[in-house]
Amino acid sequence: MNEKILKLMERGTKILGSKYAIMGGAMTWISESNLTSALSNAGLFGVLASGAMDGNLLKKEVIATQSKTDKNFGVNIITMNPKLNDLVDVCGERKVSHIILAGGIPEKSTIEKIHGYGIQAIAFAPSQVIAKRLFKQGIDALVIEGNEAGGHVGPLSTMILIQDILLNMKEYPIFVAGGILRGEMVAALLKLGAAGCQLGTVFACCKESTAHENFKKAYFRASGRNAILPVQLDKKFNIAPVRALENIGMDEFVQKQREVLQKFEKGEVRAENGRLSLEHFWAGSLRRAVQEGDTDRGSMMSGQIVELIKEERSIQEIIDQILKEAESVFN
Ligand SMILES: Cc1cc2nc3c(=O)[nH]c(=O)nc-3n(C[C@H](O)[C@H](O)[C@H](O)COP(=O)(O)O)c2cc1C
Repeated sequence: MNEKILKLMERGTKILGSKYAIMGGAMTWISESNLTSALSNAGLFGVLASGAMDGNLLKKEVIATQSKTDKNFGVNIITMNPKLNDLVDVCGERKVSHIILAGGIPEKSTIEKIHGYGIQAIAFAPSQVIAKRLFKQGIDALVIEGNEAGGHVGPLSTMILIQDILLNMKEYPIFVAGGILRGEMVAALLKLGAAGCQLGTVFACCKESTAHENFKKAYFRASGRNAILPVQLDKKFNIAPVRALENIGMDEFVQKQREVLQKFEKGEVRAENGRLSLEHFWAGSLRRAVQEGDTDRGSMMSGQIVELIKEERSIQEIIDQILKEAESVFN
């Protein structure tokens, strides 16, 4: 093992309490107790996705994860979830070590509530201004996630976020996500001052992922250019775009967007509720893909990195290769 890579990871591993400063990003319906515990047991940092859970379900899933690993793992909570406080309470009761707040900028009060339980709070930031504000509000670490990533994405690529946020804020712990797989890239980002990296798509179709066989096979067949963003019908409505493999389900989403927009324009639905209903649409169609294997109509959320993913590998095989490639940078 190259000590240099572990040394570069030290800042991140101290925050996460894991062996490697590599987070397995939360993926709704996919990041359940099996995948999360397997990631943490392999020395990475697993993150449980609460995107489709209420408090009771999250509690069950946290208990299940804790029964499969004694290592740290995080819980991902979507900030626009109306049950946000209940979900934080569950994490507090179960003594979860980290909460990762996604899908919006968290309120200061939420960060304080999380800290009140002795839990570390990690958030996402789409710009330098917001990144600085979040650290001022007490966030413990940040993830910057580029537009190449799978799932809900911001407008800027990882390359731009690195130069705008990471390189200007080296004193803060920042993890980089979106389009990362090779170890040389992980090593380069650590050398540039990243605390670590977060990977998602590659773990959606790894051996330990309980996602449907059809779902995984579609990833292996796909190329990066198939992982696209749906057309945004109205910029004012500000719907977070979702990167996924193109299929009929993607067309159906555009249709659903049109319906919600029409209701909004007629004053039948408030913007917030409209956005929430679109989120429910995504969560439902992602479940169809992940659990039922409906690759035509289900949402096949995927990053452009799918270009490099051609076979099912175990988490151990993936991390071994990353470390080997990362070490090659120092040889
Ligand atoms: C199928 C899928 C579902 C995702 N669901 C979530 C989610 O529920 N919450 C979240 O914060 N990020 C979610 N993401 C983003 C990942 O956690 C991670 O940040 C991203 O996949 C990293 O980029 P990569 O796909 O290029 O590796 C999802 C990604 C995918 C591929």
